Amino acid sequence: MPKIAVLPGDGIGQEIIPQAVKVIKAVLGAKEAEFEFKDYPVGGAAIEAVGKALPDETLKGCQEADAVLLGAVGGPKWDHLPSPERPETAALLGLRKGLSFYANIRPVRMIPSLISTSTLKEEVLDGVDMVVIRELTGGVYFGEKGRSDNPRAAYDTMSYSEEEIRRILIKGFETAQIRSKKLCSVDKANVLETSRLWREIAIELSKDYPDVELTHLLVDNAAMQLVRNPKQFDVIVTENMFGDILTDLASMLGGSIGMLSSASLNGTKGMYEPAHGSAPDIAGKNLANPLATILSAALMLRYTFAMDEEATRIETAVEKVLEQGYRTGDLARPGDKVVGTVEMTDAVLAAL
Ligand code: IPM
Ligand code: MG
Repeated sequence: MPKIAVLPGDGIGQEIIPQAVKVIKAVLGAKEAEFEFKDYPVGGAAIEAVGKALPDETLKGCQEADAVLLGAVGGPKWDHLPSPERPETAALLGLRKGLSFYANIRPVRMIPSLISTSTLKEEVLDGVDMVVIRELTGGVYFGEKGRSDNPRAAYDTMSYSEEEIRRILIKGFETAQIRSKKLCSVDKANVLETSRLWREIAIELSKDYPDVELTHLLVDNAAMQLVRNPKQFDVIVTENMFGDILTDLASMLGGSIGMLSSASLNGTKGMYEPAHGSAPDIAGKNLANPLATILSAALMLRYTFAMDEEATRIETAVEKVLEQGYRTGDLARPGDKVVGTVEMTDAVLAAL
């Protein structure tokens, strides 16, 4: 029986996950009975419940599942904790690393009816359709780190093995092959040794993918090009921290970070979560945009369960409600009628 581990987590995670689950069940219809959905505590919620951001039971449940649906973790209540115990590190990074979800896929597409939502000019955004592939289990997030007192200092190490670089670049090339056959590898090869190795391997691998046009861009230039002329990009592949920063930036090319879905894969097994955080400031108020999570659920059906048709139905329903004018606060322009998390989901359900 296909298993989905459901981890709402903290803040708005508690609100958006039940909504996304409703959408999955609606699209599954009679097939729902073939799936097992099981909830597990994670993040600050798990610290409160069992004293640990990633309880053993949660990790085990996720290991045994085919897919993990995650809301968000973290909040001011747990910010004072030492880094290894914090929800972000212990739970989120712990799950990514613990389950080797090394390939993070973040699609960025400008849905036509949202074009006026972004702060950028319409002619720059019209037709934006790209995917950022972010390395997720290496680099500075996971390298050796530490602190010393007197003199006060701290360090984080960025390191990458050939194997780690190779497998994510392969994901990049393979993704480019099924899209427009253009791959842009983003690095900082003018300064960083890890980036020089990255670029070397990209060039070596490109010989195996003669049908893909490989280009390289330095990360600072990539940030500038993404706002200057985003339509030049189709598939971007980059290391962990560069990908973190560039995908927040790129989310504005799709209207709002509330629209940015994310799939973290190891083969067909994956963890699906919105790219945004737990938004404690709006949590519990029915204000959060559920669409990034609903779109992440669509990615789950497509990548883990090979249910492309169902995934597309969800994506089409989301586009339809946006066309109909439904807006959560993050998407609203002056004069728009704003709906809440539940109402937005109900509209998606109706459109299905
Ligand atoms: C993301 C988030 C996380 C990251 C944080 C919450 C640790 O920003 O998924 O993009 O940096 O990877
Ligand atoms: Mg981020």
